[in-house]
Amino acid sequence: MKITLTTLKKMMSAGEKIAVLTCYDASFSSLLENAGVEVLLVGDSLGMVLQGHDSTLPVSMENIIYHTQCVARGANQAFIVADMPFGSYQESPAQAMRNAAFLMAAGAHMVKLEGGQVMLETVAFLTSRGIPVCGHLGLLPQSVNQLGGYKVQGKDEAQSVRLKTDAAALEQAGASMIVLEAIPAVLAQQITETLQIPTIGIGAGADCSGQVLVLHDLLGVFPGKTPKFAKNFLQGSSSIQDAVERYVKAVKSADFPSVEHSF
Ligand code: KIV
Ligand code: NA
Repeated sequence: MKITLTTLKKMMSAGEKIAVLTCYDASFSSLLENAGVEVLLVGDSLGMVLQGHDSTLPVSMENIIYHTQCVARGANQAFIVADMPFGSYQESPAQAMRNAAFLMAAGAHMVKLEGGQVMLETVAFLTSRGIPVCGHLGLLPQSVNQLGGYKVQGKDEAQSVRLKTDAAALEQAGASMIVLEAIPAVLAQQITETLQIPTIGIGAGADCSGQVLVLHDLLGVFPGKTPKFAKNFLQGSSSIQDAVERYVKAVKSADFPSVEHSF
């Protein structure tokens, strides 16, 4: 059965964890959905794991369009989220609308953009025009130069208050999902409890509504430095399909992430 926004909302209400993985091509989109992954994220992490850049900043609209088309061709039921690349939405709601429309036409069911307060107008603009939006809070890879590196966010009181306010405001503006990246597990739990929309954690503890990992981290094929929250599921598995099935199971049972993969 096709997974829709309604499916995801129902899962959240029923307390069933949502399994998300990044995906960039048709072969993997077919494999991942057959292994039980509900949501495929065409992440701008492709700039690092596919293209070899040291950040996500060089990723273009053309890149995300191409990979979204590939993923969409391989998927029959998965819910597809496409990242809006750096520079494709920050200028104005109109710019975001124009570019989000390309991603939806390429086969996405939702777009994801980074940022809180500053993105509210854009989120309201897109969602009121038929484009579901996933927010992204905490560590924002497109702001790595501003942040001074890939660091855990929300560690002090002011930051944690800010993140809670941003999450509530994104929901209010119309977002139907929020990725929480690299924040303390207790903070992610508090945010998740107060929202009516699912939270998807990456380095945000086991109490989010779902989890996401970069596919290449899950398979242990990324040659660069892997973050503390990543886990190689291919280790101890008999195949890639088996590794992904074990990831899905671990997400569903909240065995992943464990404390060693959390902050
Ligand atoms: O680009 C990406 O892969 C992401 C996830 C890490 C959430 O945004
Ligand atoms: Na991303």
